[in-house]
Amino acid sequence: MKINILYASWFGNGKKVVEELAEILIKKNQDVRLFSIMEKPTEIIPDADLYIFSSPTRKFSLPTNVKDFISSFTPPKSQTYYALMTTYMDPRTIGLKKMESVLNSKGMLKATGDFKVKSLGIKGPLETGYNEKLMAFAEEIVKL
Ligand SMILES: Cc1cc2nc3c(=O)[nH]c(=O)nc-3n(C[C@H](O)[C@H](O)[C@H](O)COP(=O)(O)O)c2cc1C
Repeated sequence: MKINILYASWFGNGKKVVEELAEILIKKNQDVRLFSIMEKPTEIIPDADLYIFSSPTRKFSLPTNVKDFISSFTPPKSQTYYALMTTYMDPRTIGLKKMESVLNSKGMLKATGDFKVKSLGIKGPLETGYNEKLMAFAEEIVKL
């Protein structure tokens, strides 16, 4: 399966997690590409079967550039699958709900439950034991 992971990460928490996820998925014979969406990507993002969006939480929600990227994102066809990830410090985060509502309005289909990992400080470390959750998330993805 072709998988694009589109991520934003300022302090490295989200980057660490998406790189680990990519490694797990590649070991499961998936065709994975990673793209930073901190700025508008300059390279052409090839079509994929599944898009995984990853963002940190900011002010309980999403950073502005992630909001803008999601709003202007055009899936290659309707009924394209997506999955969502975030790193956060406060569990009241609603960032992924916002992403979900925008992506659903584009006719996209949610492939699996959200992956959320708590960061113990702004620059980490991430909560211990998230690796198992990440493995389970990858398992769900490859079932598509
Ligand atoms: C300016 C700023 C605002 C933040 N606001 C929130 C917030 O409202 N809720 C929350 O859970 N985390 C908040 N955080 C923490 C980040 O979500 C957390 O540090 C995240 O893991 C950073 O991911 P990154 O290293 O991939 O950028 C904030 C961080 C910064 C720098």
